[in-house]
Amino acid sequence: MTDIAVLVSGGGTNLQALIDAEKAGKIPHGKIRLVLASNPKAYALERAAAAGIESAVVSRKNYASQQEYDQAIVDVLKAHDIDMVILAGFLSILGETVIRAYPDRIINIHPSLIPSFCGKGFYGLKVHEAALEKGVKVTGATVHLVNEIPDGGRILLQKAVYIEDGDTPEVLQRRVMEQAEWILLPQAAEMVAAQLSEEE
Ligand code: GAR
Repeated sequence: MTDIAVLVSGGGTNLQALIDAEKAGKIPHGKIRLVLASNPKAYALERAAAAGIESAVVSRKNYASQQEYDQAIVDVLKAHDIDMVILAGFLSILGETVIRAYPDRIINIHPSLIPSFCGKGFYGLKVHEAALEKGVKVTGATVHLVNEIPDGGRILLQKAVYIEDGDTPEVLQRRVMEQAEWILLPQAAEMVAAQLSEEE
């Protein structure tokens, strides 16, 4: 069994999709043990509490350097014997210390078809604003492994979503979540968890 930590910063709808998928038996090789938030006000923390999952808050502003922040995150993950990390709307940057502690064991959901609208500065609604501004007709979501390059790790799953006339960033964000993110993230979680369980 792969012990999973989900890292969050905001509303936590992707966390909810993971919790629901696990309950429905769709992540048989993984168990969500910890929710780690970068912000004490993240609504995702309430979702964790409602599901009876332990949580922790590690805020960047409480650490003098990226290195110390990363080390604090690794310490919490190791203290909970975490094998695999899922970034589900985690908007704080992770440095080398975390990435090296979990090589090929960190996945991220990004709300576009990488390599479009990704990398530094593209997060949350900004991604959908950029897609609408460019006038693309198709967007989507991507789950990828996390390495040192922002949104640059190996792609695991992608799903396309059509843009419709009159879309606002908010409307498009919701459609991408419903049609792609909430489906792909649990699938990718199970893919990686199953592989790690085999290696145990
Ligand atoms: C999601 O759309 C996720 O793909 C995006 O933030 C949102 C979080 O929503 N992540 C990024 O933009 C990462 N670059 P949630 O808190 O409701 O899951």
